[in-house]
Amino acid sequence: MAKLRLGSGEHKKLFCDEFRNTFRTFEVRDIHWPRLDEATIARLRAMPFWDEAVKTERVAGARVRLMAEVERDPMLREVIAMQSYEEGRHAGILQSLLDHIGVQVRDDLSHKQRDAEWGFLRMGYGEVFDSFFAFGLFRLAGETGFFPPELMEIFDAFMDEEARHVIFFVNWAIYRNRNLKALKPWFGIRRALGISIQAAGRMRTALSMARGSGAGEDFVMQADAIDADVTFSRLARTCLEEYQRRFQKYDPRLARPRLVPKMVEYALRVMPSG
Ligand SMILES: [Fe+2]
Ligand SMILES: [Fe+2]
Repeated sequence: MAKLRLGSGEHKKLFCDEFRNTFRTFEVRDIHWPRLDEATIARLRAMPFWDEAVKTERVAGARVRLMAEVERDPMLREVIAMQSYEEGRHAGILQSLLDHIGVQVRDDLSHKQRDAEWGFLRMGYGEVFDSFFAFGLFRLAGETGFFPPELMEIFDAFMDEEARHVIFFVNWAIYRNRNLKALKPWFGIRRALGISIQAAGRMRTALSMARGSGAGEDFVMQADAIDADVTFSRLARTCLEEYQRRFQKYDPRLARPRLVPKMVEYALRVMPSG
């Protein structure tokens, strides 16, 4: 396999092609939700994060769309617009499931207006961090029987799309950093800030989980909702495995996010044994 220089035109073509070639054409109305038993419906209805989940996808769609509008490179613009479509479809899939199980969510779309690039950077690093835990929690939800297998199948494809977004985003950020000339220091600062803001919040939560102090943040709540016996160490190891597995199918020459697994490996080392 020919060596690839990150930041080159060839690199851009590769990460855009990987995204385009794995795009799935389907519409929300093509999904046929399985009949679920009462206990499963009750369990799903009781999940505390539906409002937040739908809103996150809607806001992601809006932020990514804004970035597609200002992107001047046609190849990047096309792919960013595809991602925006997928985020909107994610919101639609969640909404459709909620209609199926009879959950009403707030129709709240309010979010801070941001400069397009800053919004895309914050959203992108948000996905880099959140998907790490989401992939692991998703597997645990299947293993513990919390999520019925029929739903696992539908949401597996959803998770794969998020993995694609992450791969695209980390490669886009490298490409952009290496190709901005006059504005390079400014982009570098924004990028570092975007990473730091996400990292600080997630590290705090991870460490509080390791200490067992039960911080009430989103994925702690999700882990608790899935199974009270899921320890930090089991969750962390599952997340590490899943993060690696989901990215395996992409060209090995593309960059992968490394910071989050390193942070979690560190948390695993410093956490009190037992
Ligand atoms: Fe999404
Ligand atoms: Fe996404």
